[in-house]
This record gives sequence, C-alpha cells and structure tokens, in this order.
Amino acid sequence: MAKPRLFVTRELPGNALKRLEEYYDVNLWEKYQAPPYEVLLEEARKSDALVTLLTDRVDCNLISSSPRLRIISQYAVGYDNIDIECATKHGVYVTNTPGVLTEATAELTWALILAAARRIVEADRFVRSGEWYRTGTGWHPMMLLGTELYGKTLGVIGMGRIGRAVARRAQGFGMKVIYYDKRRLPPEEEKKLNAQYVPLERLIEEADVITIHTPLTPETEGLINRERLARVKKGAILVNTARGKIVDLDALAEALREGRLRAAGLDVFPQEPLPPDHPITKLDNVVLAPHIGSATWETRTRMADLVAENLIAFYEGRVPPTLVNKDVVNVRPPGFG
Ligand code: GLV
Ligand code: GLV
Repeated sequence: MAKPRLFVTRELPGNALKRLEEYYDVNLWEKYQAPPYEVLLEEARKSDALVTLLTDRVDCNLISSSPRLRIISQYAVGYDNIDIECATKHGVYVTNTPGVLTEATAELTWALILAAARRIVEADRFVRSGEWYRTGTGWHPMMLLGTELYGKTLGVIGMGRIGRAVARRAQGFGMKVIYYDKRRLPPEEEKKLNAQYVPLERLIEEADVITIHTPLTPETEGLINRERLARVKKGAILVNTARGKIVDLDALAEALREGRLRAAGLDVFPQEPLPPDHPITKLDNVVLAPHIGSATWETRTRMADLVAENLIAFYEGRVPPTLVNKDVVNVRPPGFG
C-alpha cells in the first residue's frame, strides 16, 4: 500500500516530521509565511492527512472538497480556525495539542502580568534610549512607579488547564484568586487553588488583574466589550494570552488611553500580525507580544511530538490520543483502511 499523503503547512521543531516519514508521504510547505488559502485547498484535495496551524483556515469548503482527507492534526491547543462540525460530518478526525503547552502559556501570562504591573518594557526603553542618563539622576522616588501584585485580586476568566496553571502561580505572588468559567470546578479543586467562583460581572468589577484563558467560540467572541471595560475596577490590568477576538481591541485602547485601565499585556490580536498603525501600539501602558504563549523549545517540540503521535495512532487504526471531535468515531473508524 502506498503511504498516505500528508501535507504539513509549516516546518516544526524537533524530529517529529522525520518520524512521520516512516508512515506518511510527508509534503512540507517550506516557506515562513502560511500557504495561501488556494494552495491549502489544492494540497488538501490530494492529501489524506494535514498538519495545520492556527493561521490556516480550514473551512467547510475545504473539508467538503477534499474527499481523501481523513485527519487534520492541528499544531495548537486552540482550533477555532477549523470547522469542527463540518469535519465530523465528513468523517474527518481533528486533533490538537492540549496539556503540553499549559505551563509555557501560564509562564508567558505571568511575564505579561509582571511586565504590565511594573512597566518593564517602558523601563527598558527609558534606559536604552538614554533618557535615564539625560535626567542626570540615578534614582528618584517617583521614577517609573508601577503597582504591586501582593495582596491584590487576580480574576481568571476560563479555568481550563491554562487558567488553573495561572491560578496556581498566583499563590506564590500572594494574590487572592477569583474565577469565572461556564463550568464551576469541583470544591476540592477550588480549595487546592484557593480560588473562589464568582459570576463574570462580579469578576470584572472586583479583579485588579483580569486574565483570559477561554477558547474563542461564538460565546466568547467580544466577551470583553466596551460595556464590560467601562465597569472594570479603576486602575485594573488586563492580560490576554488566549485569542484576540475575545477582547474589543479598539475599546481596550480607549480604556487604556483614558487611564480607566492602568495597563494591559497582549499576546493575541483580532488580526495577526497586528498592523503597526493600530492605536494600541501608540500607548506606553501596554506590553505587546506576537502570539508567543507556547514559544519555548521544550513546548514547541512536545507539540510536534503530539502531532506525530496523533497521526501515527490514526495510521495504526487507533483513536488518536487528543482527538477533538470525539463523535467522529461513529461516522468512520480511525485509519486509512
Ligand atoms: C496557540 O495559540 C494555541 O492555540 O496553541
Ligand atoms: C488548554 O490547555 C486549556 O484547557 O486551557
């Protein structure tokens, strides 16, 4: 039997692709930029399997015009770029990479919280630009004052794996944790995290630091809108390492400019890459990162390994370990047989 054809939309770290060559005829898109939609469509049409990133639009048009396609192995925990319902209907397995990126994303979240609270990026620019030197004063009681985290309240929106990993770290900073999720945690889990469940509206009003860890869904799109931003505690900090479309970025820029919010840390944007002329880029009280939540060598390599494990399991006729659309097994058994 000929090896199933696999199209991979970007180079991955580690040796996962090498490993896959034993099972699949691996076709790699070698450019740094994403393949244009038309190319992805063409490749999907002749492939049995795909490795996709969150920047690859896998819509129902693509899925339904790819009769050979059996599995999409997404190199990300989020999969809002894929039409899951359509994939299930067509018997296409979709897998993602949960778990392996939890700690890295929680670490980046804290990097942004700390950078926003203590104005680290502004401070760096102050030193580097020579402005500090020009002031002629080495230390001043009023220089670059930020805000303290100790004793403050962290509000976690979305208490999945990543939200919990962020909450766990809050204990080390002496913060009180409140959270909102559409599902409440079991009491013993709440106790372990020292986290108190509150309705979303209360979290918005009480948190000193709000951090977002929900997937992007029709329910969470625009969740942090103008009305909610108007009700945050004065001087609060907002951090988003989940998906850009959860926050109304224009409304956020306004709230930051008016000083209603003290600062923000953003790793995700409604449009990526973020156009450099967006008003948010003109503000000093925002720390910006280019969607690097999972960007450590350790995590990105483990994500690639998990992508490979899912594809190998499927090849061997087993249910992939991190299958997203579990109902698909009722449509078609795993494997290329
Ligand atoms: C990155 O944003 C991911 O979903 O893994
Ligand atoms: C992702 O891993 C999440 O559940 O937060």
